[in-house]
Amino acid sequence: MCGIIGYIGTKRARDILLTGLKRMEYRGYDSAGIATIEEDKVVSTRSVGNVSGLVEILKSKTHKGMAGIGHTRWATHGAPSEANAHPHTSGKVTLVHNGIFENYQEYKTALEQAGRKFHSQTDSEVLAALIDFEYENEINPRIAITNALKKVRGTFGLAILFEDQPDMIAVARRSSPLLIAKNGSAVFIASDQYALAGHASNATVLQDDEIAICRADNFEVFSMNDYPVGKEILKITASEESIGKDGYEHFMQKEIFEQPQSIQRTLSGRINKPLGTSQLGGINLTPKQLRGVKSMIFVGCGTAYYAGLLAKYLLEPIVKIPISVEVASEFRYRSVALNGNELSVVISQSGETADTIACVEELQLKGIPVLGVVNVVGSSIARLVDGGIYLHAGPEISVASTKAFSSQVTALLLLGIYLARQRDLNLGDGQELLEQLEALPKIIEEVLKIEKEIKVAARKFAKLPHLMALGRDLLYPVSLEIVLKIKELTYIPASAYPAGEMKHGPNALLSPEMGVIYLHGEGPLSEKSVSNLAEVRARKAQLLIFTDTEIDASKDEIVIKLPKSSHFAQGIIFTVAGQLLAYHMAIALDRNVDKPRNLAKSVTVE
Ligand code: AGP
Repeated sequence: MCGIIGYIGTKRARDILLTGLKRMEYRGYDSAGIATIEEDKVVSTRSVGNVSGLVEILKSKTHKGMAGIGHTRWATHGAPSEANAHPHTSGKVTLVHNGIFENYQEYKTALEQAGRKFHSQTDSEVLAALIDFEYENEINPRIAITNALKKVRGTFGLAILFEDQPDMIAVARRSSPLLIAKNGSAVFIASDQYALAGHASNATVLQDDEIAICRADNFEVFSMNDYPVGKEILKITASEESIGKDGYEHFMQKEIFEQPQSIQRTLSGRINKPLGTSQLGGINLTPKQLRGVKSMIFVGCGTAYYAGLLAKYLLEPIVKIPISVEVASEFRYRSVALNGNELSVVISQSGETADTIACVEELQLKGIPVLGVVNVVGSSIARLVDGGIYLHAGPEISVASTKAFSSQVTALLLLGIYLARQRDLNLGDGQELLEQLEALPKIIEEVLKIEKEIKVAARKFAKLPHLMALGRDLLYPVSLEIVLKIKELTYIPASAYPAGEMKHGPNALLSPEMGVIYLHGEGPLSEKSVSNLAEVRARKAQLLIFTDTEIDASKDEIVIKLPKSSHFAQGIIFTVAGQLLAYHMAIALDRNVDKPRNLAKSVTVE
C-alpha cells in the first residue's frame, strides 16, 4: 500500500513530509519522493529504494516551500524506478496517487495523440496529464480535477499541486483512504493516521468522490457529484511513542513481545464472568438476530485467513454451526451458494485490504450481515461493516503480522463464546473458556522466555534450502501461518501440510536436505501425531519438534518444549513459538525483517 503525506502551513514542508514518509515506510515502498511549491514553480525530488535514499539526495536539493506533498510507492504499474516514482508532473500539475487508474491506457493514447509526452510507465502520470489537460480549459482547479476524475474508472487517493496556485493543495478520494487534519495555521494530509501522530488529535475522513481544497488556515470539502459532503471525524489514536521500536531491534520483535499486552487489550472489558459469556459492544446485531444465524463465513487474506482457519477448529465444537473460511481474493469472484441465514466475519489487521473490502461489499449486496475483526480504528473495512470487534492491539508496523494474528484469534474466540452461550454452551463451560482466554497472556510470557533456545534452532534451520511444517487438528492452520512467516521473512521455499496428509504425496519431498518443523500438541490426536512423526523420521528429514508434551527424540533432533496450555490457547502458543523461529531465521540470513522484499503491509490493490 503506498503512502501519501501533504502539508501546507507556515513552516517549510520538506522535513514534515520526510517525517511522515518515514512513518509510512512500513506499509511497503520501493521508491519515494516529495514535491514543494517554490514561488512560481514546483520542485520535485524522487528516489528508488527507501526514504533514507531520498534524504541523501535531498542534501543537495533546495525545498524551501511551505506547501508540499510526498509519497512512498509500492509498485503496481511500472517497475520500481526513479522515473516511475511519485510525485508525477505534467504541465502545471504535480500529484501523488494511491490506487489504480484502470482505464489509463485509452487516455494515455489520446493524450499522446494530442502531443503530450510521457516519461514513466505509470497510470498516475496519465492522471496528472489528464488533470492538466482539463486545467487548460477550466480556470478553477477544483472543477478541472472533477472533470478529469469523472473520466477515471478505478480508485484514487490523490494530493495535487498546481504550480500557479501556490497557496493550496487539492486532495481527492475514491476507495483509497485520505485524512485531513487542521492544526492551528497548518493543514496536514495523510493516507495513514500514523503519519498524523503528533500533528493532530482528530482528522476528517474524506469520503468517496470528494475533493478538498486545503490552505494554510483551513480546508473545504466538496462533492464531485454535488451530494452533501460527509462529516466523518477520526480520533488519531496513534502516538509518536506507539510507533517507535521501544528499544527492540525490529518492530517485529517488539510486536511479538507485545502479545501478552495486546491480547490483554483485546480481552479488556469483554469478559462477563458472572454470565460466562463475552460482552461485545460493537456487534450491532440483536441477540435474536445472532440466535438465528445458521452458519458462518470467515473471510481474510494471508495471516488473517489463517486466523480464521484456526478459529474454525476452535469454534465449531462449541457454537455447533458450520463455519466456512474463505480466501478473500477467491471468494469475491466465486458464485457462492448462500441460504441467507449466514453471519459473515471479515478479518483484517489494516482494514484496507482491497480483496477483503470487496468481499464486504459482495456480502452486503447479498444481504448477509458482515462483522469486521479489524485492528486499525476508522479504517475502510471498519467503516463499511455492519458491526465488529476492534482488536485494540496497537499499531502493527512490521509487514509480517504477529500480534494481530493472536488478537484476531482471541477476538474470534470471544465471538464464539458469545454465540455458543446463546446455544448449548452452559454457564460453567462458558466461564471455563473465558478463564482459558484470561490465562493466555501469562502463558505467552512463558513462551517468550524460550527465545534463546529457539534462536539456536533458527540458526540451524536458516541454512536449509527447503522447509516444511506439519501439524494435526488445530496445529495444521498454525503450521500454515508459521510457514507464511518463514516464507515472507527468509524467502526460503516452505510448505505446510496436515501431518496425516504426508503419505498422500508430500512424503516424496522428505530427504536429509528437508527441514521439518513438527508441531506436536497434547490432545485427542497426539497418538496419531506420534505415528506421523515416525513417518517423517523414517525418511531422515532434519527435525525441529515443538511440543507441549513429553516425546522421545534422538540426539540429532531439536526438541523445544512449550508450556502446556488449554485447547483454546494451544494454537496461539505454538504460533508465537513459530513467530520467534521465523524472526531469528530472518536475522540469521540478514534479511530486511520489517520490510521484506516484494511485500507491503497493507495490500490496497487487487
Ligand atoms: C502477513 O504476515 C502478511 N503481511 C499478509 O499475509 C497479511 O496478513 C495480509 O495481507 C492481510 O492483511 P490485513 O490483515 O491487513 O487485511
